Amino acid sequence: MTVREVRATGHEALMLATTLLQRARRTHATTGLWEAADVQWWWRSPRRSDEIEKLFWIDDEGPVAGVLLTSWTDDDWQCDPVVVADAAGPEPDVVWQRAMEQAVRHAATGFDVPVSDDDRTFTDLAQRSGLTAGDRDRTAWMDAGDRPAVVPLPEGFVLSDRTQRRNAPHPMRDRNGNGVAQRLGQCSLYDPALDLAVETADGRIAGYSLYWFDPTTKVGLVEPVRVKDEFQRRGLAQAMLCAGIDRLVKRGAERVKISYETDAAAALYEGLGFQRTSTATWYRTSPE
Ligand SMILES: CC(C)(COP(=O)(O)OP(=O)(O)OC[C@H]1O[C@@H](n2cnc3c(N)ncnc32)[C@H](O)[C@@H]1OP(=O)(O)O)[C@@H](O)C(=O)NCCC(=O)NCCS
Repeated sequence: MTVREVRATGHEALMLATTLLQRARRTHATTGLWEAADVQWWWRSPRRSDEIEKLFWIDDEGPVAGVLLTSWTDDDWQCDPVVVADAAGPEPDVVWQRAMEQAVRHAATGFDVPVSDDDRTFTDLAQRSGLTAGDRDRTAWMDAGDRPAVVPLPEGFVLSDRTQRRNAPHPMRDRNGNGVAQRLGQCSLYDPALDLAVETADGRIAGYSLYWFDPTTKVGLVEPVRVKDEFQRRGLAQAMLCAGIDRLVKRGAERVKISYETDAAAALYEGLGFQRTSTATWYRTSPE
């Protein structure tokens, strides 16, 4: 099969990244750091990187490899070389090399490359490229059959989703900007019925969480989860997650994935039955 290189920006690049990551997941159940839903979650706010050309390698079925570039702020960039395992596309070291070239060109102050710790090829390439190991995070999965039972919210709180609050300000607006509802609405995997919030009886937002169901991979992704400081340790996250995971499974999710950094999140998710499967290291360019 012939493989050709294409470049894309903006929403077109988002859709190519989506089909690339869906193919990668269909090819292998757990390898690779990201789901298609992760890159759709990254789309929630406009970024400088939106208009930068991203590189993809495409065969007759669609993308087999790509280089994702994401600017969280002007000084905080992330680069993700992605390769579909066992596909007849470019070799991982070629994709890595092109990824480094792209990242160096656009992220003048440096960038991170997250690499799964069980990915020997990219770990070796990161070390040989002189990148420095930094933060680590963990990924855990849950089979649909192992999901926890839905539990009621503590008294004084109610659960809602965006189908019930279409005209209310989006709960994630404070952290992600006024355009967050519109940007999420541009994502093919976003479902307003899986966009949950917990409110107090007088309508204040206490927490929120978002669930992404991918019908092509049957994977459900949980991202993000947040409970405001003043409402923590009352069981809100736990009740919200049980409800959200239940909705994912009812949509058709066979497995549910979550990633996290903190011990608090680990206690929460592993306490609900998620099984930790892998860790990832964020490799960073050294400061000049
Ligand atoms: C992590 C977070 C979502 C937990 O929300 P929460 O509503 O306070 O969690 P719950 O009350 O439902 O906690 C359920 C269980 O999770 C564990 N847990 C929650 N917060 C914890 C903490 N700070 N330290 C240790 N364990 C914790 C405990 O086992 C807890 O049960 P317990 O209170 O009976 O001991 C919240 O602290 C938060 O929003 N943090 C900032 C954002 C974040 O880290 N999100 C997760 C990113 S993946």
